Amino acid sequence: MNEQTTDQKLGAVITGSARGIGAAIARNLAACGYGVSINYVSGEEKAHRLVEEIEASGGRAFAYRADAGDYEQVRSLVEETAHRYGGIRIVVNNAGFSQHTTIDQMSVEDWDRAVAVNLSGAFYAVKAALPYLRKLDWARIVSICSLRAMTGSNHGAHYAAAKSGLIGLTKSLALELAPQITANAISPGYVNTDMNAAALAKNGEAIRAMIPARRVAEPEEIAALASFLASEEAGYITGETINMNGGIYMR
Ligand SMILES: NC(=O)c1ccc[n+]([C@@H]2O[C@H](COP(=O)([O-])OP(=O)(O)OC[C@H]3O[C@@H](n4cnc5c(N)ncnc54)[C@H](OP(=O)(O)O)[C@@H]3O)[C@@H](O)[C@H]2O)c1
Repeated sequence: MNEQTTDQKLGAVITGSARGIGAAIARNLAACGYGVSINYVSGEEKAHRLVEEIEASGGRAFAYRADAGDYEQVRSLVEETAHRYGGIRIVVNNAGFSQHTTIDQMSVEDWDRAVAVNLSGAFYAVKAALPYLRKLDWARIVSICSLRAMTGSNHGAHYAAAKSGLIGLTKSLALELAPQITANAISPGYVNTDMNAAALAKNGEAIRAMIPARRVAEPEEIAALASFLASEEAGYITGETINMNGGIYMR
């Protein structure tokens, strides 16, 4: 029934992986032996540099431009990954962006774009990869959600709503795709990436004071959990959204 044995390393699709959390996840999965897609939309140079870095460490990677909010582009990313590495075992839905805007200022286009990239992109990647995942005895889907899915946001309702949708998608995938395929999400709080650079530069001290851990997370910490959820050993965890926020959610 299964075309692959569990010790064969196939491909891992990681959306939005040229920088930040996605790049850290790509490094980890490449170090585990997976062939990884370094997907970018604006960061072409960073994507190529990361491919060189992974290859220099003996890993397999390729750079590919695809907009996570466009199904045909995501499908093409998935097909290229499967073609290069003989299949796909892992899908990491990481591509995302936030936009600081109130509900009064938000245009319909702002809303549609945020939902397309932060939520529909995950469905697109899973839909395209499913025929490959289903061939295997085990496969994994990991989505990067956000604290804002639980708390809401007073300056990014579209982002918070899309990330909340990702939790519903994760649970539904977990139910439908069990037992071979698990689906889980991680909800980071503040992570030290470009996404927060401006906020941390302006209010870093106040932000760190709010967090029981008294610091923001490094992308590698999120990647370590993502790698575990993507591993064979994590097969009994499914449908979960794991908060990883230094305790800020208790505040
Ligand atoms: N940083 C945080 O504190 C934090 C907290 C909670 C959740 N998250 C989530 O974590 C994920 C990664 O964020 P990050 O912190 O690593 O942010 P980041 O440093 O800003 O990186 C965002 C990544 O997403 C990619 N991306 C954005 N729009 C895309 C699109 N339309 N198609 C394909 N890729 C796209 C970017 O690609 P390019 O480089 O090509 O532009 C980049 O690789 C996001 O889903 C974010 O919502 C982050």
